[in-house]
Amino acid sequence: MLKFTSSASALILAALIAAHPVAANAEHLNLSQGWSVHKGDAVGANQGSYDDRGWTQVVAPHDASIMDGPDGTPFDAKATAGQDSGYLPGGVVWYRKHLNLTDAQVNQVAKLNFEAVYMDAEIWVNGQSVATHRYGYTAFSVDLTGKLRAGDNLIAVRVNHEDPSSRWYAGTGLIRPVSLDLQNCVHIEPESVAITTPVATPQTGEVVVATTIANCAAKPQSVELVSEVVAVDGKVVARSAMPISASIKAGVPLTQKLTVSSPALWSTDAPNLYTLVQRVRIDGAVVDERRTRFGIRTISVDAVNGLRINGQPVRLRGGNIHHDNYMLGAAGFHDADTRKVALMKAAGYNAIRNAHNPASRATLEAADELGMLVIDEAFDAWNKDKRPKDYARFFADNWQEDITSLVISGRNHPSVLFWSIGNEIPESGTPLGVETGHKLTALVRRLDPSRPVTQAVNAEPPLDDAQFATSDVAGYNYHPYLFAGDHEKFPNRVMFTSESTSKDAFQYWRPVETMPWVIGDFVWTAVDYIGETGIGWMGYSQDWQKLGPYPWHLAYCGEIDAIGRKRPAAYYREVLWKTGIDPISAFVRQPDGTEDLPDRHLFPITPPHLDWSLDDVHPSWTWPAQEGKALEVDVYSEFPQVELFLNGKSLGRKAVGVDSEYKAIYAVPYAPGRLVAVGYRDGREAGRWELRTAGDPALAQLSSDRTQIRANGEDLAYVNLKLVDENGTPIYARSGDRKVTVHVSGAATLAGIGNGNPMDASSFQSGVRSTFHGQLAFVLRSLNQAGEIHVEVEIEGLPTQYLTLNAVSDTAGQGDN
Ligand code: GAL
Repeated sequence: MLKFTSSASALILAALIAAHPVAANAEHLNLSQGWSVHKGDAVGANQGSYDDRGWTQVVAPHDASIMDGPDGTPFDAKATAGQDSGYLPGGVVWYRKHLNLTDAQVNQVAKLNFEAVYMDAEIWVNGQSVATHRYGYTAFSVDLTGKLRAGDNLIAVRVNHEDPSSRWYAGTGLIRPVSLDLQNCVHIEPESVAITTPVATPQTGEVVVATTIANCAAKPQSVELVSEVVAVDGKVVARSAMPISASIKAGVPLTQKLTVSSPALWSTDAPNLYTLVQRVRIDGAVVDERRTRFGIRTISVDAVNGLRINGQPVRLRGGNIHHDNYMLGAAGFHDADTRKVALMKAAGYNAIRNAHNPASRATLEAADELGMLVIDEAFDAWNKDKRPKDYARFFADNWQEDITSLVISGRNHPSVLFWSIGNEIPESGTPLGVETGHKLTALVRRLDPSRPVTQAVNAEPPLDDAQFATSDVAGYNYHPYLFAGDHEKFPNRVMFTSESTSKDAFQYWRPVETMPWVIGDFVWTAVDYIGETGIGWMGYSQDWQKLGPYPWHLAYCGEIDAIGRKRPAAYYREVLWKTGIDPISAFVRQPDGTEDLPDRHLFPITPPHLDWSLDDVHPSWTWPAQEGKALEVDVYSEFPQVELFLNGKSLGRKAVGVDSEYKAIYAVPYAPGRLVAVGYRDGREAGRWELRTAGDPALAQLSSDRTQIRANGEDLAYVNLKLVDENGTPIYARSGDRKVTVHVSGAATLAGIGNGNPMDASSFQSGVRSTFHGQLAFVLRSLNQAGEIHVEVEIEGLPTQYLTLNAVSDTAGQGDN
């Protein structure tokens, strides 16, 4: 770090900068490492003198609710939040971290950034209370300028997660990253940078940048703001240098317009990105630098053309997600949040609704990079609560701060499509709801006039303008049958399904294909989540109150399960959306009364299946004791004709298309062997899908999503374990499941292990779990040391497996802001 006061030094600095064009006085310190945590209250823990030697060492992001309790599991059948939280408790939790700073650092402008703390947090620095923040999902910064000291500093955080605070599993603690920004007295206000791209054509990209330059000193300064648009290959494609002659003591808002010719536009198919590099110069010397990644694209919506990105029509192939990362709990590690987006992209989704709170930065960055659109949502409740201890307690005092945080955190991400001000708000449609909706929308539009505003409504007709008065786009939860009639009444209304049931995918998607004013469908949910236990079961009682008793802890309605496996519903959706990913697939309806039931207790007994349960079909041709009985085989196909073969014998060809809802249904007398579905286009084979009867498990195959991670204490590698028989056929039947024990040594630690079984409430941290439908997954987290990572996996009755990965030293520089 360099700090110069005289103009002579400034000249030297300018020369240095010419050689190393790096930020001069700005530092972004990642504070993920070195936290201590304590569950329960701890009097005096905000003071430096407090003895925290008995506390547990952790890294942020961290979720205290997922840590094992005294009996070796985090789950508690008596947890106050019950099925809402998946029988996981909240509570009071303390965090402490020491931070050593130099003289030069403590003289900087300092901002301590929390990306989310669940919830109702108070922060102390060196024993002094510096902030409170109630909402558990919004980013906030604490101004520590002048409050830090050279040498040791103590940051203490008390979290007060009172139960029940949420309708789903929220987690407890520092659930998203923590960092410290140190800047020169004259600096770019980090939250001020707002980039819009009002023109985005193949010829021209117009980039409008708003920035505020601040000056902490009493003395006015003359500065220059240089903003450059840098392409991925490092070329500067647009530049604006703006001298500011006025006094900047009070903070000066500036607007710069940059033009990029022949820009690489951002879209879901081609997610091209640029970086805005901004430098503040005084007498030629760089005193602050800020990098903001963005994309050049436009969004428009209307009831005639639907949604268009860069003028091109887009249908929203959407999925809702909650924020938890299953075996990691609510800890929003960058790699975990990124993986969730990547899993959705790989399954053909092009849009996420982040239910029902602001998305993490990692989620938005992944969406930017992978080409996913995001509906970034503010709240599940406004003035009226849904649970006694939820955010509604704080809404009146905090909504402005939280809406501001939502928009400021998300507005430079090209992936963010709409702002949603709420989900199923109890008071919507009433005068209070209308008034509140207007206030929220007005603030959103002031902070970002470039994006449509929406909210999700689940109400019986008429869905009049009071419900949607403030929305540019109307989100309907579960009411596809209203689209035609509401269009007659409100011909300008742009509509979409903000939540739908998976088993009715066809009924929800048809309007998107046939009604231009219906722009998409978001299933509840794309990825399984903790809490709302058993809504994908709706089993024996069909009684909401009796759903998912302990040990249920997952909703089990995810089309992608908790460990990342696509369930049959995800394959059907790929076909419905004509993604070409798996253009033909086949699954078998679970018969009654089998001896080796794969999932009988997890599915409704009596059709019709209700609500959020998935269709009871399975990727298996292993059905002991069913010989000769007719099993229903459902073939999903993008191809217009399919043919099914059992052990080489044709069971006939069938036409498939919109009339058959892209399915062909066969009744197949069961015999072990090979079931093959072949798809034909123009009379020729165009694709096939095979299910084979599995024997006993013979081997566990390990595969890791990465072989190398950075030794930064945060990188994750996900390892999948899959049981196969001696021919390599995957095991699916429950009798094939095996107990697994994972040992990790070397340069990583086991961060979690899970199997996706909604009723297996054992520890996520012990390293011991059974497979579920023949698989499980575990997560390795790097430490701060480079070297080999050794994984040994014992599998009951099968050969032990080994895996070696590498942690390499983390030389990556400071990322974009
Ligand atoms: C909706 C709600 C979601 C989820 C879903 C399934 O009404 O908006 O948050 O609760 O039901 O239970």
